[in-house]
Amino acid sequence: MDEKNELTIEEAYKMLEEAPRKNKELWVSHSVNVAIVAERLAENLGLDSKRAYVFGLIHDIGRGKKEHTGIRHIIDGYNYLMKLGYEDEARICLTHTFYDRSIVKGNLTKRNTNLTRAEIKFIEDFINKTKFNLYDKILQIADNMGSATGINTIERRRAESMLRYGISHVSEKNLKTIFAVQNEIEIKLGRSIYSLFPEVTDNINKTMIKDVMKFLK
Ligand SMILES: [Fe+2]
Repeated sequence: MDEKNELTIEEAYKMLEEAPRKNKELWVSHSVNVAIVAERLAENLGLDSKRAYVFGLIHDIGRGKKEHTGIRHIIDGYNYLMKLGYEDEARICLTHTFYDRSIVKGNLTKRNTNLTRAEIKFIEDFINKTKFNLYDKILQIADNMGSATGINTIERRRAESMLRYGISHVSEKNLKTIFAVQNEIEIKLGRSIYSLFPEVTDNINKTMIKDVMKFLK
Protein backbone atom coordinates (compact mmCIF):
# COMPACT_ATOMS: atom_id res chain seq x y z
CA MET A 1 0.00 0.00 0.00
CA ASP A 2 0.98 3.56 -0.61
CA GLU A 3 1.98 5.06 2.72
CA LYS A 4 2.42 8.68 1.82
CA ASN A 5 2.06 11.31 4.50
CA GLU A 6 -0.95 13.55 4.08
CA LEU A 7 -0.97 17.04 5.49
CA THR A 8 -4.20 17.96 7.30
CA ILE A 9 -5.99 21.28 6.85
CA GLU A 10 -5.06 22.24 10.44
CA GLU A 11 -1.37 21.46 9.87
CA ALA A 12 -1.39 23.39 6.59
CA TYR A 13 -2.86 26.45 8.32
CA LYS A 14 -0.22 26.12 11.03
CA MET A 15 2.52 26.16 8.35
CA LEU A 16 1.05 29.36 6.91
CA GLU A 17 0.86 30.97 10.35
CA GLU A 18 4.46 30.09 11.12
CA ALA A 19 5.86 31.30 7.79
CA PRO A 20 8.19 34.19 8.60
CA ARG A 21 8.09 36.76 5.85
CA LYS A 22 7.13 40.30 5.06
CA ASN A 23 4.06 40.83 2.86
CA LYS A 24 2.82 37.61 4.37
CA GLU A 25 -0.78 38.82 4.42
CA LEU A 26 -0.81 39.04 0.62
CA TRP A 27 0.40 35.58 -0.29
CA VAL A 28 -1.36 33.95 2.65
CA SER A 29 -4.75 35.41 1.66
CA HIS A 30 -3.96 34.48 -1.96
CA SER A 31 -3.31 30.92 -0.75
CA VAL A 32 -6.59 30.75 1.17
CA ASN A 33 -8.53 31.92 -1.91
CA VAL A 34 -6.66 29.39 -4.07
CA ALA A 35 -7.68 26.71 -1.55
CA ILE A 36 -11.34 27.75 -1.80
CA VAL A 37 -11.27 27.55 -5.62
CA ALA A 38 -9.41 24.23 -5.63
CA GLU A 39 -11.80 22.73 -3.08
CA ARG A 40 -14.90 23.63 -5.10
CA LEU A 41 -13.46 22.46 -8.40
CA ALA A 42 -12.45 19.14 -6.81
CA GLU A 43 -15.88 18.69 -5.24
CA ASN A 44 -17.57 19.20 -8.62
CA LEU A 45 -15.16 16.83 -10.33
CA GLY A 46 -15.78 14.06 -7.79
CA LEU A 47 -12.31 14.34 -6.24
CA ASP A 48 -11.18 14.67 -2.62
CA SER A 49 -12.01 18.30 -1.91
CA LYS A 50 -10.12 18.36 1.43
CA ARG A 51 -6.91 17.29 -0.32
CA ALA A 52 -7.43 20.00 -2.94
CA TYR A 53 -7.98 22.57 -0.15
CA VAL A 54 -4.71 21.55 1.52
CA PHE A 55 -2.88 21.75 -1.83
CA GLY A 56 -4.22 25.29 -2.26
CA LEU A 57 -3.05 26.35 1.20
CA ILE A 58 0.51 25.11 0.75
CA HIS A 59 1.17 25.57 -2.99
CA ASP A 60 3.15 28.78 -2.31
CA ILE A 61 4.63 27.76 1.06
CA GLY A 62 8.12 28.31 -0.39
CA ARG A 63 7.34 32.03 -0.23
CA GLY A 64 7.64 31.72 3.52
CA LYS A 65 11.23 30.54 3.30
CA LYS A 66 13.02 33.66 2.08
CA GLU A 67 12.44 37.26 1.18
CA HIS A 68 11.68 38.11 -2.46
CA THR A 69 11.91 34.56 -3.65
CA GLY A 70 10.29 35.03 -7.09
CA ILE A 71 10.26 31.76 -9.01
CA ARG A 72 12.56 30.31 -6.30
CA HIS A 73 9.54 29.76 -4.09
CA ILE A 74 8.55 26.67 -6.09
CA ILE A 75 11.76 24.76 -5.33
CA ASP A 76 11.98 26.06 -1.76
CA GLY A 77 8.42 24.84 -1.14
CA TYR A 78 9.13 21.51 -2.81
CA ASN A 79 12.28 20.86 -0.75
CA TYR A 80 10.63 21.94 2.51
CA LEU A 81 7.63 19.60 2.07
CA MET A 82 9.73 16.68 0.76
CA LYS A 83 11.90 16.89 3.87
CA LEU A 84 8.76 16.46 5.95
CA GLY A 85 7.65 13.53 3.80
CA TYR A 86 4.69 15.24 2.12
CA GLU A 87 5.35 14.05 -1.41
CA ASP A 88 2.03 14.93 -3.07
CA GLU A 89 1.97 18.38 -1.47
CA ALA A 90 5.59 18.99 -2.56
CA ARG A 91 4.72 18.04 -6.13
CA ILE A 92 2.03 20.75 -6.26
CA CYS A 93 4.66 23.39 -5.38
CA LEU A 94 6.32 22.60 -8.71
CA THR A 95 3.38 21.66 -10.95
CA HIS A 96 1.15 24.67 -10.22
CA THR A 97 3.48 26.95 -12.18
CA PHE A 98 3.78 25.08 -15.48
CA TYR A 99 0.61 24.43 -17.46
CA ASP A 100 2.42 22.52 -20.15
CA ARG A 101 5.93 21.14 -20.72
CA SER A 102 6.51 23.63 -23.51
CA ILE A 103 6.52 26.56 -21.08
CA VAL A 104 9.05 25.22 -18.56
CA LYS A 105 12.25 26.49 -20.15
CA GLY A 106 10.85 29.90 -21.07
CA ASN A 107 9.50 30.54 -17.60
CA LEU A 108 12.63 29.37 -15.82
CA THR A 109 15.07 31.34 -17.88
CA LYS A 110 12.87 34.43 -18.01
CA ARG A 111 12.18 34.62 -14.30
CA ASN A 112 15.23 32.78 -13.10
CA THR A 113 16.22 34.71 -10.02
CA ASN A 114 18.94 32.95 -8.05
CA LEU A 115 18.13 29.39 -9.09
CA THR A 116 21.22 27.27 -9.53
CA ARG A 117 21.87 25.39 -12.77
CA ALA A 118 21.25 22.14 -10.92
CA GLU A 119 17.92 23.41 -9.59
CA ILE A 120 16.77 24.45 -13.07
CA LYS A 121 17.75 21.03 -14.40
CA PHE A 122 15.91 19.34 -11.53
CA ILE A 123 12.71 21.31 -12.15
CA GLU A 124 12.86 20.67 -15.91
CA ASP A 125 13.39 16.94 -15.42
CA PHE A 126 10.66 16.75 -12.80
CA ILE A 127 8.06 18.43 -15.01
CA ASN A 128 9.12 16.47 -18.08
CA LYS A 129 8.65 13.16 -16.33
CA THR A 130 5.41 14.14 -14.55
CA LYS A 131 2.09 13.46 -16.18
CA PHE A 132 -0.19 16.13 -14.73
CA ASN A 133 -3.15 14.69 -12.85
CA LEU A 134 -6.45 16.47 -12.19
CA TYR A 135 -5.22 17.89 -8.87
CA ASP A 136 -2.24 19.48 -10.63
CA LYS A 137 -4.60 21.01 -13.19
CA ILE A 138 -7.11 22.19 -10.60
CA LEU A 139 -4.31 23.96 -8.74
CA GLN A 140 -3.05 25.58 -11.94
CA ILE A 141 -6.52 27.04 -12.50
CA ALA A 142 -7.03 27.93 -8.83
CA ASP A 143 -3.69 29.77 -8.68
CA ASN A 144 -4.93 31.88 -11.57
CA MET A 145 -8.29 32.65 -9.96
CA GLY A 146 -7.46 33.22 -6.29
CA SER A 147 -5.99 36.63 -5.68
CA ALA A 148 -5.20 38.27 -2.35
CA THR A 149 -8.49 40.15 -2.41
CA GLY A 150 -10.85 37.51 -3.70
CA ILE A 151 -11.70 35.23 -6.60
CA ASN A 152 -11.22 36.53 -10.10
CA THR A 153 -11.31 35.57 -13.76
CA ILE A 154 -8.18 33.99 -15.17
CA GLU A 155 -8.09 36.81 -17.73
CA ARG A 156 -7.88 39.50 -15.05
CA ARG A 157 -5.17 37.68 -13.12
CA ARG A 158 -3.07 37.01 -16.21
CA ALA A 159 -3.48 40.54 -17.57
CA GLU A 160 -2.29 41.94 -14.24
CA SER A 161 0.67 39.56 -14.25
CA MET A 162 1.60 40.38 -17.86
CA LEU A 163 1.59 44.08 -17.08
CA ARG A 164 3.81 43.41 -14.07
CA TYR A 165 6.32 41.03 -15.71
CA GLY A 166 6.02 42.06 -19.37
CA ILE A 167 4.25 40.71 -22.43
CA SER A 168 6.37 38.27 -24.42
CA HIS A 169 6.16 35.00 -26.30
CA VAL A 170 6.44 33.31 -22.89
CA SER A 171 3.39 35.13 -21.52
CA GLU A 172 1.52 34.30 -24.74
CA LYS A 173 2.31 30.61 -24.25
CA ASN A 174 1.31 30.80 -20.58
CA LEU A 175 -2.02 32.26 -21.63
CA LYS A 176 -2.70 29.68 -24.33
CA THR A 177 -1.72 26.76 -22.12
CA ILE A 178 -3.77 27.85 -19.08
CA PHE A 179 -6.82 28.23 -21.33
CA ALA A 180 -6.18 24.70 -22.62
CA VAL A 181 -6.26 23.47 -18.99
CA GLN A 182 -9.46 25.46 -18.38
CA ASN A 183 -10.99 23.87 -21.49
CA GLU A 184 -10.10 20.38 -20.31
CA ILE A 185 -11.65 20.96 -16.89
CA GLU A 186 -14.78 22.58 -18.32
CA ILE A 187 -15.32 19.65 -20.68
CA LYS A 188 -15.14 17.33 -17.65
CA LEU A 189 -17.50 19.57 -15.68
CA GLY A 190 -19.85 20.09 -18.63
CA ARG A 191 -20.08 23.78 -17.71
CA SER A 192 -18.06 26.94 -17.38
CA ILE A 193 -15.81 26.98 -14.31
CA TYR A 194 -17.19 30.44 -13.49
CA SER A 195 -20.68 29.01 -13.05
CA LEU A 196 -19.32 27.47 -9.82
CA PHE A 197 -18.06 30.81 -8.51
CA PRO A 198 -20.67 33.54 -8.02
CA GLU A 199 -17.90 35.34 -6.09
CA VAL A 200 -16.27 36.22 -9.43
CA THR A 201 -19.30 38.21 -10.59
CA ASP A 202 -19.57 39.89 -7.19
CA ASN A 203 -15.90 40.80 -7.35
CA ILE A 204 -16.17 42.27 -10.85
CA ASN A 205 -19.27 44.23 -9.85
CA LYS A 206 -17.62 45.53 -6.70
CA THR A 207 -14.17 46.46 -7.99
CA MET A 208 -13.19 49.26 -10.31
CA ILE A 209 -10.40 48.63 -12.80
CA LYS A 210 -8.03 50.87 -10.82
CA ASP A 211 -8.32 48.45 -7.90
CA VAL A 212 -7.11 45.60 -10.11
CA MET A 213 -4.55 47.26 -12.38
CA LYS A 214 -2.19 48.96 -9.97
CA PHE A 215 -0.62 51.26 -12.57
CA LEU A 216 -3.90 53.20 -12.78
CA LYS A 217 -4.35 55.91 -10.16
FE1 LIG B 1 0.18 31.04 -6.02
